[in-house]
Amino acid sequence: TLIRREDYLAPAFWIRKVELCFDLDPLKTIVTSKMQVERNAAVAHGPLKLHGEEINVLRVLINGESVSFRTEDDTLVIDNAPDADFALEIRNTCCPEKNTALSGLYTSGGSFFTQCEAEGFRRITYFLDRPDVMAVYTVLMRADKTKYPVLLSNGNLVEQGELDNNRHFAKWHDPFPKPSYLFALVAGDLVAREQRVRTRGGKDHLLQVFVRRGDLEKTEHAMNSLIASMVWDEARFKLPLDLERFMVVGVSDFNMGAMENKGLNIFNTSALLASPATSTDADFSRIESIVAHEYFHNWTGNRVTCRDWFQLSLKEGLTVFRDQEFSMDMAAAPSARAVCRIQDVRQLRAMQFPEDSGAMAHPVRPDSYVEINNFYTATVYEKGAEVVRMYQTLVGRAGFEKGMTLYFERHDGQAVTCDDFAQAMADANPGSELTKRLDAFKRWYSTPGTPRVTARGSYDAISRTYTLTLSQQNNGAAPQVIPVAMGLIGHGGQVLPLELQGEAEYHGNERVLVLDQAEQSFTFLNVFVEPVPSLLRGFSAPVLLDDGLSDADLLTLLTHDTDAFNRWEAGQRLALNRILAAVRSGTPLQLDAAYVDAMRSVLNHPQLDAAFKELALTLPGEAYIAEQLDVVDPQAIHAAVEAAQLQLAQALRADWVAAFEANGTIAGGYQPDPVSVGKRSLANLALAMLVLDTQAADAAVWQGRAYQRFKDAGNMTDRLGALAALVNGGAGLADSALERFHALFKADPLVVDKWFALQGRAPEREGRTFAKVKALLKHPDFTLKNPNRARSLIFSLCMFNPAAFHRADAAGYVFWADQVLALDAINPQVAGRLARAMDRWTTLTEPYRPAALEAIRRVAAKPDLSPDVREIVERALASG
Ligand code: ARG
Ligand code: ZN
Repeated sequence: TLIRREDYLAPAFWIRKVELCFDLDPLKTIVTSKMQVERNAAVAHGPLKLHGEEINVLRVLINGESVSFRTEDDTLVIDNAPDADFALEIRNTCCPEKNTALSGLYTSGGSFFTQCEAEGFRRITYFLDRPDVMAVYTVLMRADKTKYPVLLSNGNLVEQGELDNNRHFAKWHDPFPKPSYLFALVAGDLVAREQRVRTRGGKDHLLQVFVRRGDLEKTEHAMNSLIASMVWDEARFKLPLDLERFMVVGVSDFNMGAMENKGLNIFNTSALLASPATSTDADFSRIESIVAHEYFHNWTGNRVTCRDWFQLSLKEGLTVFRDQEFSMDMAAAPSARAVCRIQDVRQLRAMQFPEDSGAMAHPVRPDSYVEINNFYTATVYEKGAEVVRMYQTLVGRAGFEKGMTLYFERHDGQAVTCDDFAQAMADANPGSELTKRLDAFKRWYSTPGTPRVTARGSYDAISRTYTLTLSQQNNGAAPQVIPVAMGLIGHGGQVLPLELQGEAEYHGNERVLVLDQAEQSFTFLNVFVEPVPSLLRGFSAPVLLDDGLSDADLLTLLTHDTDAFNRWEAGQRLALNRILAAVRSGTPLQLDAAYVDAMRSVLNHPQLDAAFKELALTLPGEAYIAEQLDVVDPQAIHAAVEAAQLQLAQALRADWVAAFEANGTIAGGYQPDPVSVGKRSLANLALAMLVLDTQAADAAVWQGRAYQRFKDAGNMTDRLGALAALVNGGAGLADSALERFHALFKADPLVVDKWFALQGRAPEREGRTFAKVKALLKHPDFTLKNPNRARSLIFSLCMFNPAAFHRADAAGYVFWADQVLALDAINPQVAGRLARAMDRWTTLTEPYRPAALEAIRRVAAKPDLSPDVREIVERALASG
């Protein structure tokens, strides 16, 4: 059924307190829930309807007396609930061992874990499982002492002890009222890294990271990240840790990255465990940002939560923004901050832009959904974070901090809406560019799609004025408020003044123009040479920009822009123009000397960081290229990108050698600091380029060097980089390297995931990648039951390897349909994600489009499909 935002009604009852008791058993766990319930006087008198799924009720008592109730499609209804406050007791059972959906209470590796967001709590016991019902929880857990020595839940441990039959118990109390989605429980044979810390306010806290026995030495980075997050949130936003104890637990079977349960964060091990030998630089950085993200939720999500799930971006957009800011502050140096920003924008363009123009397009605050799990999307998260960033751009950093303070003053302990956040930001900043046009700004929450901004300038040499005309368009939607951070650069690199006609002098060399009309012009005075406009600096708004700049203009920005983001962007645009021209004309791509020389200057630049060079020399992603086209031929895009890559490899061979020699060895032990990370990334790119050109005179030498480096590498970043160079370059030694890698790491599931993923993403050559993936489905290490493993192979092919997936014989789509159906029977949430590989099928050219439609229809024809997959495929069909 379709749930609509406009249908929101306050709950008919409140649950103020809950006492939960768990007798944990993998096959039959008994849950007893004692709730203190009261009617919500503001709502019409009616029955009490509790949510519940896949659970068996044993008894229901009101004020100690059994009461009549009925169960109807996933609800338990009590028609004659008392008017006065009452005690409700429900006893039920559930089966954690059979819970392959990994929502609610489930087992993984012989331990118990929970995942309750968004609607998993109802799979544990009957409840008002909605975020605006907040209760104080006390949890008693009883379990076998040998199998489950560690018993954890939210809050503080208040009691523990022994029971008969080798069982024991623990009782936890969480003093903060919370919605049911933040409940958590863990029971198992786990060990913890512990650290005591004192916060600025002088309070002592115990931090613990729980993992399986062998993984303890891989928790140091997570612990350091947690401490850094605490320090940062206190310094930047004055938000301290409000609990005596803060626990983080790792689990191998998990649907997402991690979960911010109050005081008991639960993490996918892939987002928690790190060691130099088994994790890449990208893993280290992802772990730091996810640990921070979940920690930051303690305020933005837990202390102030969402009134309903349509408001999801209230906590997710804001918390992603906070973790992005944290990562930038950790990177410290301005150039390293720019690298963070470029990576975030690349991610947004690769994931959110296609989403916003495809079958699943939805506003940051969706208007309706069938299955809320389908709306944990790049739009809600990443575009939501961009919306929060625009507040900061419009009110300034200090103004933003004031807005946050007011938000917590007003709403601490409440379940609120995106409007409440917007209002706090505006009210804390009277007279600001935001407050002047708050209603228009809020269209960012309600308008789907990526706005297109067009910019054209004209220079008048006589009056020395430059007039910039900005216009916006988004499928006829009302104009949005678009902050355009900008500067003007002369062709010789001069930074030009930014004084606007009709205003007092302006001295900065950067400013923010606010575009809030369909079209607006801005006239700059005293512009002494013809400028190149550098627009949307730092990607100041999530839009597609058409600035009409020529190659010469872009080369000027690539060389001279003071904004590192726009320097990178200029290089990307030069590449994009060439790739699009080749694809549109259907002619083979041939790179010109101007472009190659520009890339050579970047690569050999004495001042630029290695990290920036790597980003600048990496071509735009195929998904982002596809977004620029009305009709998409994935094979043509791939061919153009491959040609561009090979030509860069050939034309810059000597420069790649120099880059590899300069960055390939780092003295001292492994450190994931921005400088070392940048060097490793550039060395890996250089090596990939050197192995790629199999026709070069010294091709065999570089293949041998790559193999040697793969064998001798002192860390996973170098090892996987060398392996990827061999596999992606189609080197003869690739197979033996893959075999060796597997033998070396077969005992480490997270590394085996990398091994599958590398093969699933390998560039397609004569169908070999696709055939290999099909063969790997039968590998003894492969299983659909573990989400990380399923993602490593199947998602790699269907979501991240367009040329292997979109086949003229439709075998990729058949594979997709088979896997969606197989996964749906195990884990609907993961299946729903995979289903989204077809989001953009309507743009495909022949023969892909009809073949894709047929595969989608085949999935949709299955009668007992989960609501998760059903919603995705129905929307895909409706978009055609
Ligand atoms: N709130 C979690 C986070 O972003 C994600 C939980 C997603 N859960 C889900 N069932 N979709 O940190
Ligand atoms: Zn989150």
